[in-house]
Amino acid sequence: MATETRPEQGQAPVFTSFKEMMEYGKQNGYKMDWLQPRETFGSRLDSDEAAGGLLLQDIDHGPFAQVPDWSDNMTGRPRGALTRPNAPRVGNYSVRTKGDIWLKNAAQLYEEAVQRQWSSAVDVPWDEMEELPEDIERAECQLATFLTEVEFVAGDVPGKWISETTPDYYEPRMFLMSQIMDEARHMDVFRKRAFANGGGLMSQTTNVALSGGAIDSARDFTEMSARLHISGEGLVLSIFRMGERMSYNDAEKAIYRLAASDESRHVAFGVMHLQYLAQTDPERKEEIHSYLDEIEMGLVAGTGGQNPAARGTPSNAALAILLGGGSDAQSIHEGNQIALAVRQRQVKEYVQRVRVAGLGDRFENGRANAALAAYVSA
Ligand SMILES: [Fe+2]
Ligand SMILES: [Fe+2]
Repeated sequence: MATETRPEQGQAPVFTSFKEMMEYGKQNGYKMDWLQPRETFGSRLDSDEAAGGLLLQDIDHGPFAQVPDWSDNMTGRPRGALTRPNAPRVGNYSVRTKGDIWLKNAAQLYEEAVQRQWSSAVDVPWDEMEELPEDIERAECQLATFLTEVEFVAGDVPGKWISETTPDYYEPRMFLMSQIMDEARHMDVFRKRAFANGGGLMSQTTNVALSGGAIDSARDFTEMSARLHISGEGLVLSIFRMGERMSYNDAEKAIYRLAASDESRHVAFGVMHLQYLAQTDPERKEEIHSYLDEIEMGLVAGTGGQNPAARGTPSNAALAILLGGGSDAQSIHEGNQIALAVRQRQVKEYVQRVRVAGLGDRFENGRANAALAAYVSA
């Protein structure tokens, strides 16, 4: 039986059950149904410090873990929260189909991004830099200029897709926010490198495809992701991984190592998204293959403008000087040989990523660009 719940003057009511409280509300004209406990009430979550603490994926349970295939959420409602019928429309999200942006491990990638933030101000041993031969320093500055420019694009392009995505797909959304922070740091670290050793910014890239933004003109998230995460960032990642070979001090080594750890996460996002889409929406595979056709042209012919190792560009010349150790004919020749090895590595890593995404049939059925084979077999 309910006990006396009506308070005396100035005395707070004490309830022993939710039902009792609802009854009190009904009798006194208070709307209390919003206090109804949700399905997860009572299941406490333990954070496991050894496993990284309380992670975003750990709280994904009950109805809150149900990611709809289609989202009609236009009101900014957090996924799983109860709908308020008179909530105003605050978003006009175009990405409301799960396959358009989803991947299996976005929460994990986001948590990794948060955990591995670094600072270009204090995590790069700038004091280790010493004066370099003039041609080497100029090449460093040219490469740093190119990278400042591409990192700007890499932060700019995902930005617009965040506000286009329904809050029901918050994990990829939050990953993209972390990516933008990473890219801001990459832009700042290469800009700092250009100046740190007494240099400065050199020439803007001559390739209109970069600044004109084939990436930015994508009308579909997957199209953007293929061009940015698989192509552009994949190419840059292969170069950062060769960072040891083009570094002249510990500061440069640290820059490439730290940037590569971020880029590998961005590339993983793209690969896992393509994999999810190829598995759940096989009718879109042909469309993805058409993006890959375009990307492969960039790999073998240097179109697309995102590849610092593409032949005939200032950044490629800079790479050859850095890799060869000077600007005399012999050094540039040696540098170009190493740059060729860089391009081979780019192609091999690209092929591997496409295979992981579940689209490797193109390398067996004759669809892939024939010139790739020469790189792979090299
Ligand atoms: Fe980056
Ligand atoms: Fe990136």
